[in-house]
Amino acid sequence: MWTRGNNLKQLAPHRTSRGTRRQELSRMGKLQKQICRFILDHFDQNYAKDLGETWITAREVLTSPLSWRYGILLNKFNFAYELETRLQSDGFHPLFQGTPLPSLPGSLKCYIRKAPGRFPAQKHHFGRLKQYYLLNAASLLPVYALEARDGDTILDMCAAPGGKSVALLQIASPAHLHCNEYDNLRYRWLKQTLDSFIPPHVMDSVTTTDLDGRKIGHLQPEMFDKVLVDAPCSNDRSWLFSSDPQQAALRIAERKDLPVVQIQLLSSAIEALRPGGSLVYSTCTLSRAENCDVIAELLSTFNSILPVDLSEIASAVSREFSFAAGVRWTEYFMLDMAVKMV
Ligand SMILES: C[S@@+](CC[C@H](N)C(=O)[O-])C[C@H]1O[C@@H](n2cnc3c(N)ncnc32)[C@H](O)[C@@H]1O
Repeated sequence: MWTRGNNLKQLAPHRTSRGTRRQELSRMGKLQKQICRFILDHFDQNYAKDLGETWITAREVLTSPLSWRYGILLNKFNFAYELETRLQSDGFHPLFQGTPLPSLPGSLKCYIRKAPGRFPAQKHHFGRLKQYYLLNAASLLPVYALEARDGDTILDMCAAPGGKSVALLQIASPAHLHCNEYDNLRYRWLKQTLDSFIPPHVMDSVTTTDLDGRKIGHLQPEMFDKVLVDAPCSNDRSWLFSSDPQQAALRIAERKDLPVVQIQLLSSAIEALRPGGSLVYSTCTLSRAENCDVIAELLSTFNSILPVDLSEIASAVSREFSFAAGVRWTEYFMLDMAVKMV
């Protein structure tokens, strides 16, 4: 079995024009007010220790929502050529354009652009598939790392709201995709996402459950070729913009418990993997305790798993994503929010 960690750090674009810089600073001023000081102080204390110099750049990205880049993942099941043409004429370009990504399937199309700003989301209409899914471009990397193939049996253990499940189905036609989500409300959201993007004949090979992922390994041992654990974590970006100080304080107090849950989810995922299968673990936090420490703990507990070298993928995507210096390729860190545009 392989264990695949994947974390990527991405940086903000540089701006040169003075006017643009002034406008940005003014808009930034407004956005800065929404930053939760308590959380930022906590990050400053912890991440400066964990990441050293890298925290300075990561902090700049994290606190600058205007530099975040959103991807537009086109839905191959309701493909709209006119939308693709419109995106191109609006300055969008395909993510990973011209990059020698190993096994990058042409069926997965995600557009991004340099200019900040969000593309409007599409509303859900019963019986009509959506044409695109908005997501942080970096969140596609765990999906690439999974290397889903036609005919695979795949478990997406923590699946809501469903972005990675939708992306997986753009890449491959699995024999069976099992999408699981423990939280009841989010489980409904996951089902709605699948209804909105995936046609009924493809849904025939998809099942959804609302189980505690920690139990799946025991319930379905050695069932899956591939398992994705996109784990519950301290989601740095959303935590930083917490509007409720009490909730922020609670999150910080409970933060130390997350690695335990993550290790339990991964242990269950390993049990659910068939021998020779592969597992991708992804988070959207910079926390060392939730990333490399979790992987190190797992590697020391299970001698049947091996880390996989992801440097080929990392170097193929290095035009659009930057990686923290000194990070081992089996455990590179993902800040699930922005794309470095060059
Ligand atoms: C980072 S989010 C997943 C995002 C999703 N993969 C996507 O791409 O749209 C993590 C999810 O794990 C769920 N979760 C938390 N504890 C869980 C558990 N014990 N078992 C399964 N899912 C869990 C959370 O409710 C949350 O929806």
